Amino acid sequence: MLYDDFYVKSLIRTVDDWPKPGISFRDITPIFTNPKGMRMVVDAYVHRYIDSDITHIACIDARGFLIASVLAYELRKPLVLIRKKGKLPGETISQKYDLEYGSAELEIQVDSVKPGDNVLLFDDLIATGGTLVAAISLLQSQGATVKETAAIIDLPDLGGSNRIQSLDIPVFALAAYE
Ligand code: PRP
Ligand code: ADE
Repeated sequence: MLYDDFYVKSLIRTVDDWPKPGISFRDITPIFTNPKGMRMVVDAYVHRYIDSDITHIACIDARGFLIASVLAYELRKPLVLIRKKGKLPGETISQKYDLEYGSAELEIQVDSVKPGDNVLLFDDLIATGGTLVAAISLLQSQGATVKETAAIIDLPDLGGSNRIQSLDIPVFALAAYE
């Protein structure tokens, strides 16, 4: 299916003043209730990464899981879950971070990636970049290389994509909202 920017953007709903006053929340749930939209979004990433040298796909709790798991299935790659604190059993490492409307802590299991792994890191949206930068540091602390970060939405005015690019990690997003 040919990627259609306007169509995908038509499936992203803006909810003002949620979850806090002043935040324009970009709601991607209509993508998931629309099978054509879901397929178009997944296919855009399949097309980009099918011939790449990525060995693993890592994704961020919770919205990042939704597309990344389908992508990992399509590309036949291992899927690594980076979760909010307290959700993963066994030995984990964690990283605190700030995001557009709060702060949180992410965790990864210590044996989920290793030196030599080339990781595509996926999340649904980039705002301040706090979440992705924390996830990058968890993956790099295990010796993995983060080859690229991918998202559905970038909010460039909040600086996250610049922050990630300044770490020499490319950013690929389907839709930007200035
Ligand atoms: C949202 C979104 C990204 C993050 C982006 O996650 O899914 O992970 O914020 O913001 P940042 O670039 O400023 O870090 P949230 O913590 O709301 O979690 P959810 O996916 O569980 O809804
Ligand atoms: N995560 C951080 N900022 C967000 C926003 N503006 N919309 C949706 N998810 C977000």
